[in-house]
Amino acid sequence: MSEAGAGDRPGTARPYRICVVCLGNICRSPMAEVVLRAVLERRGLADAVVVDSAGTGGWHVGEPMDERAAATLAAAGYDGSRHRARRFEPSWFAERDLVLAMDRENLRTLRRLAPPEGADVRLFRSFDPDAPEDAEVPDPYYGGREGFVRVLEMVEAAAEGIADHAARVLGRAPERR
Ligand code: 4NP
Repeated sequence: MSEAGAGDRPGTARPYRICVVCLGNICRSPMAEVVLRAVLERRGLADAVVVDSAGTGGWHVGEPMDERAAATLAAAGYDGSRHRARRFEPSWFAERDLVLAMDRENLRTLRRLAPPEGADVRLFRSFDPDAPEDAEVPDPYYGGREGFVRVLEMVEAAAEGIADHAARVLGRAPERR
């Protein structure tokens, strides 16, 4: 699969498209979507990179973010109020340049769903230079509020690396924070 997201013809910039995927799309991936969008906005990449999110499971489709996730975001200055959960559809691979899984189970599921010609599917934390290999963003759903704070820390730590990657693919100079 081509890595290019900058447009196939000179002068025609099409956005680089990223989908973040967890299990339920009410905790981890919507938090990551909001944080990633904020980083891209700060770096002037908001128009060049499109971010969305989904779950591999469909139990919560149509629901807003888990209130613990939204509260954790709000305490850090982010707005998670507009989110509505969706389930990842295999047809979306054709419309995304990069699909980011929050844990190894989501990664396995996505790779099973991927088209035979392949897709760029990676772990979200693989873009955090300080994270160990194969590091996951653990599911916080059955735990306490502290788990959501940890999710936010992990997501913020990887988001700059994801923005660096998108900037590189788009041919934009990487911007130091
Ligand atoms: P998420 O968390 O994958 O981070 O959105 C979960 C949300 C709901 C469930 C599991 C994980 N659930 O089993 O309903």
